[in-house]
Amino acid sequence: MKPLIPTLLSLFVWTASPGWAATSQPRTTLLNEYTSQAKQADGSFAGFSAQRGEKFFQGNHTGGKPDTPSCTTCHNTSPMAMGQTRANKPIDPMAVSKTPDRFTDREKVEKWFTRNCQSVLGRECTPQEKGDVITYLGNL
Ligand code: HEC
Repeated sequence: MKPLIPTLLSLFVWTASPGWAATSQPRTTLLNEYTSQAKQADGSFAGFSAQRGEKFFQGNHTGGKPDTPSCTTCHNTSPMAMGQTRANKPIDPMAVSKTPDRFTDREKVEKWFTRNCQSVLGRECTPQEKGDVITYLGNL
């Protein structure tokens, strides 16, 4: 029974920490994965930044398709609001407070990062860019 005590203790610490209700285990696991990838790519990596994520998500980029220069071409400039595809299909808000299951399904997240980063930047997003974007949208 000994190992049960540390488990119970960490559970207590987790539930007692501020904001625990807003965090989701799959999203945290995914962010941890991007953290180790970012560290591997850059030894001086010092954590994700919501501010950097906002700049990246809201900003205009080159290298991708001319009709999709920004993430906000499809996702609304307000992540709290609905977006729409090029074919005018509605896209649920990207802010986690509005669409709580955002960034909880690893396969879905990877599939859309791959596709959308290719459209907007003409390349894959880096682990740091992915983590920054999720941190930005997860804090809204
Ligand atoms: C051409 C339109 C379009 C552009 C441009 C676009 N997206 Fe998306 N994105 C979508 C669609 C459609 C979905 C899937 C529908 C949904 O998740 O509601 C999606 C879903 C996603 C998801 C999955 C979210 C989840 O629920 O887990 C991520 C991550 C994402 N986009 C990131 C980005 C980023 C970062 C950019 C800019 C580099 C971007 N998107 C640009 C259309 C776009």
